[in-house]
Amino acid sequence: MPTQTTQTLTASSADLARAADLLAQGESVAFPTETVYGLGGDARSGPAVARVYEAKGRPAFNPLIAHVPDIETAQRLVMWSHMADRLALAFWPGPLTLVLPLREGHGIAPLVTAGLDTLAVRVPAHPTARALLRAFGGPLAAPSANPSGRISPTTAAHVLAELGGRISAVIDDGACDVGLESTIVGLADDTPRLLRPGGLPAEPIEAALGQELVRHHVSDTLNAPGQLLSHYAPKATLRLNGEEARTDEVLLGFGEVYGDLNLSRNGDLTEAAANLFGHLHELDLTGRPIAVAPIPDHGLGAAINDRLRRAAAPRDS
Ligand code: TXA
Ligand code: MG
Repeated sequence: MPTQTTQTLTASSADLARAADLLAQGESVAFPTETVYGLGGDARSGPAVARVYEAKGRPAFNPLIAHVPDIETAQRLVMWSHMADRLALAFWPGPLTLVLPLREGHGIAPLVTAGLDTLAVRVPAHPTARALLRAFGGPLAAPSANPSGRISPTTAAHVLAELGGRISAVIDDGACDVGLESTIVGLADDTPRLLRPGGLPAEPIEAALGQELVRHHVSDTLNAPGQLLSHYAPKATLRLNGEEARTDEVLLGFGEVYGDLNLSRNGDLTEAAANLFGHLHELDLTGRPIAVAPIPDHGLGAAINDRLRRAAAPRDS
C-alpha cells in the first residue's frame, strides 16, 4: 500500500545532493546503474537497510550488494585478494560484483549480508550512480529496485510503476545500457565461483583470472543464498524456447523468430540483454501468457537464459 509521495529527481548536482540528504536520513532512493535501477539505502544503518527490504517485500535471508565508489573503499570493507585485484583492475567500474570475506571494522549493518560473513561489493560504472556515491560519501546497499520476485527495472518509469508510494525518491536518468544485473563472482575461498551470470560474460572473467569459474546449478541456493529459483517473474506465465506463439500467447522474439516484440532482430546478445526486462514488462501488460524464442547460451546469452529460466519456474499461487 502506498504510504508516501515518491519524488522524481534528475541527475543534476542539486538533485543528487537532495538524494544524498534523503539517504543520510535513512530513506530509500532508487537510482540508475549501468545494469538495472537499484534501490539504495545507507549500508551502515540497520534501519535504512530494513526500509529497503520492506519496500521490496524481500525475504530477509536474501543479502544485498554494497555499492562503493572505488577499489580503495571496497578494500576497507572486505579482505582483498590477488584474484580480487585482477578482476577489479580489469572490470571495475562495471557490471561485476565480487563476494569476499568481511573485514574487521567494516561497519556494514548485519542486515546487508543477512548474517553471512561475506559481503558482495561492486563499483558501478554509471556516471549518476558514481556521482550519487560521491555525494553520499558512504557505501549504498542496493538491490534491484523492484518488488521481490518481480522483473528488474531498467527505467525510472518501471520503478515508479511498482514501488511508487513505497520509497522516498527515484533519480530518473533514462534507460540502463546493460539491462541485466551484474555478474556475481564468489572469491571467499581459493575457488572462484560464478554465483550469478550477468551483465559481464563469464569468458572474459576467466581470461583475466587465467582459470575457469566453478559454476553452480540455477537451483543451488546454498552458495548464492538469494538466488531463489522463481525470481524475476512477470505476472503472466512464461514458456521458453517458443518457435511460435500458441493460442493466446504473445511471443518475445529473438533473431529470425520475429515475435510481437523482438529482443534483437540481428541476433545481437548485447542488444537482447538491454531489451530483456523492458520487453518483458511491456508484454506482461497485455495480461497474456508469454512465449520466448530460443536464445543461444554463450556470452550474455547465458545470463539471459538464467533470468528466463527463473521467470518461467513454478511459483506459489
Ligand atoms: O546489477 C546489480 O547487481 C544490481 C544493481 C542495482 O547494482 N543489483 C542487484 O541486487 O541485482 P540484488 O539484490 O537484486 O541481487 C543481489 C544478489 C542476490 O542474488 C544475493 O543473493 C547475492 O547478490 N548476494 C549478495 N550478497 C551475497 C553474499 N555475501 N554471498 C553470496 N551471494 C550474495
Ligand atoms: Mg534483484
